[in-house]
Amino acid sequence: MKYVLGIDVGTSGTKSLLTDEAGKIVSEDSIEYKMAQPRDGWAEQDPNDWWEAAADTIASILSKSGVSPDEIAGVGLSGQMHGLVMLSDGGDVIRPAILWCDGRTGDECREITDIIGRERLISISGNPALAGFTAGKILWVRKNEPENYDKCRVVMLPKDYVRYKLTGEYATDAGDASGTNLLDIKVRDWSSAILGDLQIDRALLPPVLESCQIAGRISRRASERTGLKEGTPVVAGSGDNMASAIGTGVVKAGVAFTTIGTSGVVYAQSDRPKIDAKGRIHTFCSAVPSGYALMGCTLSAGQSLKWFKNEFCSEESANAQLNGISVYKVLDEIAEEIPVGSGGLVFLPYLMGERSPVLDEESRGVFFGISAVHTKANFLRSVMEGVAFSQRACFDILCENGAAPKEMLICGGGGSSRLWRQMLADNYCMPVRTLKNNQGGALGAAIMAAVGTGIFGSLDEACGTFLEYGELQYPDAKASEKYKRIYNIYEMLYPTLSEAFHALADLRREGIV
Ligand code: XUL
Repeated sequence: MKYVLGIDVGTSGTKSLLTDEAGKIVSEDSIEYKMAQPRDGWAEQDPNDWWEAAADTIASILSKSGVSPDEIAGVGLSGQMHGLVMLSDGGDVIRPAILWCDGRTGDECREITDIIGRERLISISGNPALAGFTAGKILWVRKNEPENYDKCRVVMLPKDYVRYKLTGEYATDAGDASGTNLLDIKVRDWSSAILGDLQIDRALLPPVLESCQIAGRISRRASERTGLKEGTPVVAGSGDNMASAIGTGVVKAGVAFTTIGTSGVVYAQSDRPKIDAKGRIHTFCSAVPSGYALMGCTLSAGQSLKWFKNEFCSEESANAQLNGISVYKVLDEIAEEIPVGSGGLVFLPYLMGERSPVLDEESRGVFFGISAVHTKANFLRSVMEGVAFSQRACFDILCENGAAPKEMLICGGGGSSRLWRQMLADNYCMPVRTLKNNQGGALGAAIMAAVGTGIFGSLDEACGTFLEYGELQYPDAKASEKYKRIYNIYEMLYPTLSEAFHALADLRREGIV
């Protein structure tokens, strides 16, 4: 029997899983770590936390499963996108990684847009200059930390750093690289025009591979640390959203998935690089060779609920722990008691600013319509509904751009909540379903390894063997009608508040708040 290993380098933690060639998960483990917020709107992590978590989870699943390292055909990687990892000459980390949800680069994004031109940048890279994407971060370090920039010899994305530690090789893949603003997405390689205009040396960037290509092999050092056999192939893998597409079987045009992890994403596969002229959603390369993705991203999806739980639900957390159940299950039960619409409370989930579709790193979260009758349960439900509204906004723009899915697959931690799935079904007015093995990116990474090492001839074939779908969950017509009316109000809020968000950002800049 052959086995494949998938690793997902996430924002809340790293998960590794081992599956056999029939797709049965034989062992899995995850380790959580923290995200530092040195200032409001900034987000950083230490790349070594990712590596230690990856190495420890690999070692633990190998020993738990009893599978011999000789039987592991290959390793695949998935990871949080856009993060900037800077390495020195000797391959050491120069500064903490600046993450996808970090909004410090507004000025740099304006600079990139002025230099390259908005339309030109969108037509080459598939996206406008976005705070959170890697190019702005490179410019930010060059301007604000010239000593770090001068030391930098290689720029990497998060999962590529873990692969570097596993293999000693520098590489990336077209999907993850298309989240940097530096890739020519039609050519699936770095854009000489953009690099030239921004004066970024191409030598800083790793070679761009396709996701199932072998990017390196387990080094002796990594073998000693993890227990994997020296020489085991490691494929390029992809960004977590491209990998989740594989992990949900979204490998052909006409299918789509939503994930609620730390971020929330709505993603549709496409045969060609369709680009939203207004740049409200992303166009990326997908992990399918010569395939593309249309994608919208809510920055604080699961993160909004986690924030609410951490700040306001210590009693529920303690009770859940006492009873040995997940606190999220308890919160679901509380939210379920409140009717659709949260009693007139509407939440904007802009805790880290917002990406799609408002593209405003200076926006911030809002509870709108607070009344003296509202309880904590109303607030809880409105957080979940606000995230669903934000996903709905992305879904509508995906549809405007020609994505016409018949059903929506759901994955990610939030996708395990029946209530949240129902909110999505009611808002999309479309049946949703989750997978029996709801493992998203980590499973997608294992599938890419299975294809890259020749166990399967294509991603489509591998998905056919690996994935097992759950029951369809249908929209409720009455709830859909109510959500439609409430969503109209949700949509009015950002334009109404936009000026106030920017005035508040000025106060933050001046140090007044
Ligand atoms: C996608 C994005 C997030 C991260 C987090 O553009 O920024 O989904 O990949 O995992």
